[in-house]
Amino acid sequence: MFDGLENGQAMKKVHIKSFGCQMNKLDTALVTASLQKAGFTLSDNVDGSDIVLINTCSVREHAEEKVFSHLGFLRHIKETRPNLIVGIIGCMAQRLGNELLEHEAVDIVCGPNQIPAICELVTEALEKKNKAITVTENIRQASAQNPELEDFESVYDRADKRIPGQAYVRVMRGCDKFCSYCIVPYVRGPEVSRPPEKINEQIKRLAGEGVKQVTLLGQTINSYKYTAGEKAYNLADILAMVSDVDGIEWIKFVTSYPTKKNFDKILQAMANLPKICPYLHLPAQSGSDKILRAMNRKYTSQEYLELLETARDTVPGVATAGDFIVGFPSETQEDFEATVSLVKKARYKNCFVFKYSPRPGTIGDKKLQDNVPQDVKKKRNTELLAVQEKISDELSSQFLGRTVTVLVEGLSKKPHINTETGIDRPQLVGRTAADWIAVFNGPISLAGHFAKVKITQTSPLTLFGELVNEVGR
Ligand code: SAH
Ligand code: SF4
Ligand code: F3S
Repeated sequence: MFDGLENGQAMKKVHIKSFGCQMNKLDTALVTASLQKAGFTLSDNVDGSDIVLINTCSVREHAEEKVFSHLGFLRHIKETRPNLIVGIIGCMAQRLGNELLEHEAVDIVCGPNQIPAICELVTEALEKKNKAITVTENIRQASAQNPELEDFESVYDRADKRIPGQAYVRVMRGCDKFCSYCIVPYVRGPEVSRPPEKINEQIKRLAGEGVKQVTLLGQTINSYKYTAGEKAYNLADILAMVSDVDGIEWIKFVTSYPTKKNFDKILQAMANLPKICPYLHLPAQSGSDKILRAMNRKYTSQEYLELLETARDTVPGVATAGDFIVGFPSETQEDFEATVSLVKKARYKNCFVFKYSPRPGTIGDKKLQDNVPQDVKKKRNTELLAVQEKISDELSSQFLGRTVTVLVEGLSKKPHINTETGIDRPQLVGRTAADWIAVFNGPISLAGHFAKVKITQTSPLTLFGELVNEVGR
């Protein structure tokens, strides 16, 4: 592993910008920690920086467009500051490789599985001013084992200071599901589960640094499988293992793939282990069986709803979240109605709705025509969100008058109610174990601690309330 800058490179400033999912945010945190260890200083703007790194996402075209537009801006900056080094890391780096390197503004292209090399790449670019690329060739054939990445992950996973008291911990890399629309298996590579003892050591260390909540990450986290000798570990085993770590109070995990396999065991862990939060992110993607088949999702809408029913029977009060794609190739109005009907039955806490975006190289893009017009996609998107908003509103209003425990994240981004209470008690935001967002006024020193909040007002996605007291846990 690279461990230090030559004299003279020290104090070089890096600005890192991040797009994409929690996996990417975690990678950004690892890269940041490794650069800091090597002597770089972080900067929160492009102006004062020697290096700009962009961690990118390829999941939809729009995500890539945002990066290209930022690159246009950086090209302009480089006209007057030709020594500025620009590096692209993440999923776009893996998907586009040399095509990105050819961009005038780009000096470094580094795939998500190569991030342990980032300090070396940056140092070399500063010294030699030449372009460099490192991505995985034939990623689906490449070995899923990546000891450098495994070491990098263990060494540089630190308590995320942006959300005090919380950390994300990857338990799996990659994905083998090949949903027909999805780029992830091609940019993140084959599925691999991390060794339980590595996960455990890491979480113990994080707990020692004051972390109270860990969120375990995997693209299909319920497919976690690790065999050591006679013993085969599944996600329920990992949940039990993490539950035993002193100092960790809340454990969340995302994202689950809808399947019966291990589902009962995971739900039992949720029901019986007090630290496992009653929150399940279980994307359905569509309510139409015809579309689900075309998406290569391995369940029917009926089977999906049965899974939700089992979850609610086993873990009363479990909060659920879903993802949907509208305007998938050949989605008719009837197919869309089936999705609306599923959302009404599912009664999610919240759901994320995306307009289908063809991704080059996926089976969907090769075989299916993107034939739902943009305005229809947009209309369906808005309509589905409106259906969900009504449900979220009904569910959140049940909290009125109740007192909830939240883990306080910090200052609330938007000024909501009671902004007049002054600088000593700004508006704070926290989340409940079931992932409901709560906004209330209180001292900023509560960030990273548990607090009790009495709910006095609700909206579809947010609960508002008054601080009752800090919980000493
Ligand atoms: N592994 C997770 C999430 C993957 S990406 C899972 O399986 O649920 C997050 C979400 O982006 C997906 O759930 C899906 O709803 C959406 N998505 C993925 N590819 C997409 C595409 N090509 N167009 C539109 N939405 C997409
Ligand atoms: Fe993509 Fe499907 Fe894998 Fe999720 S499960 S990352 S949607 S291929
Ligand atoms: Fe995540 Fe986007 Fe990559 S969703 S895995 S950053 S393509």
